[in-house]
Amino acid sequence: MKVFSGTANPGLAEKIAKKLHVDLSPLEIHIFPDGEKRIRVEEAVVEVDCVVVEPTAPPVDQNFMELFFIIDALKRSGARSVTAVVPYLGYQRQDHVFRDGEAVSLDVVIETMERVGTDRFLVCDLHSIKIPELFHKPVVHVSALPLFTEKIKWLIANSKWPIANCILVSPDMGGIRRIKMLSELLEGMPYATIVKNRDLATGAVSSNEIEGDVSGKTAFVVDDMISSGGTIQAACELLEKKGAKAIYVFATHPVFSEDAPKILESSKTKKIFVTNTIHVPRRKMFSKLEVLSIASSLAEKVKEG
Ligand code: R5P
Repeated sequence: MKVFSGTANPGLAEKIAKKLHVDLSPLEIHIFPDGEKRIRVEEAVVEVDCVVVEPTAPPVDQNFMELFFIIDALKRSGARSVTAVVPYLGYQRQDHVFRDGEAVSLDVVIETMERVGTDRFLVCDLHSIKIPELFHKPVVHVSALPLFTEKIKWLIANSKWPIANCILVSPDMGGIRRIKMLSELLEGMPYATIVKNRDLATGAVSSNEIEGDVSGKTAFVVDDMISSGGTIQAACELLEKKGAKAIYVFATHPVFSEDAPKILESSKTKKIFVTNTIHVPRRKMFSKLEVLSIASSLAEKVKEG
């Protein structure tokens, strides 16, 4: 087996390769003055099972193009199989037509990844359980929930909060399934759900209602991704208004667009835990942020084949 990395998250690719006891195989990625990329496989891959690690995080389109070219180069060079490890799948929130006239962008990028020769996909915490239905090739799913479970148990063990005073919170109705699964992993910890409204045209978020009692409790807010930070900001403000004593945030994918780091740092939460599905550059780091590694879980699934 050979493991290759695009430019989106070589740190994660290195960690996965290390857990698989191989070195990362080299790729030539040349950028022309006009921004076009030339990808070249530098090692023989004939009849080799190849793995490519590339979260399609911002810059989403550039990373997708790079991934398409890497897969194409491997297949043209004779690779027996290509597993695309796409820990964060860009365009996953555009998985159906919300308003007449829209493209289903996720369908387009999946078709292209398959068309260039992907044999298998490895993805993390997809936005909706229906997304795998859009693929025609096998999709293996890895969740950050076991990592979050460990961290929540650790936080409780290292605090004076009685467990009965802790509550899980989904920042929107779409996250109920996720929060129920986490509740099971935490021996039935109770959960509350925020009613979030998002303007489909502007993306602006408002959260004014919550189903469940958070008063006097330590709240663990859990989401799949943080992009603008608007959802988490609105959730924290509502939780504070409803009397939550302390707030911790967990999200698998640190997309962190625009002013998200600033918004999150000044939000009412004590700490924000994310995973390394997406590389967080130094300029986007902030003191409340802690990055947990999902490399072991991904490497395990790669090994299972
Ligand atoms: C939405 O349904 C997702 O689960 C996230 O809550 C959302 O994508 C986060 O985006 P933002 O940080 O821009 O509010």
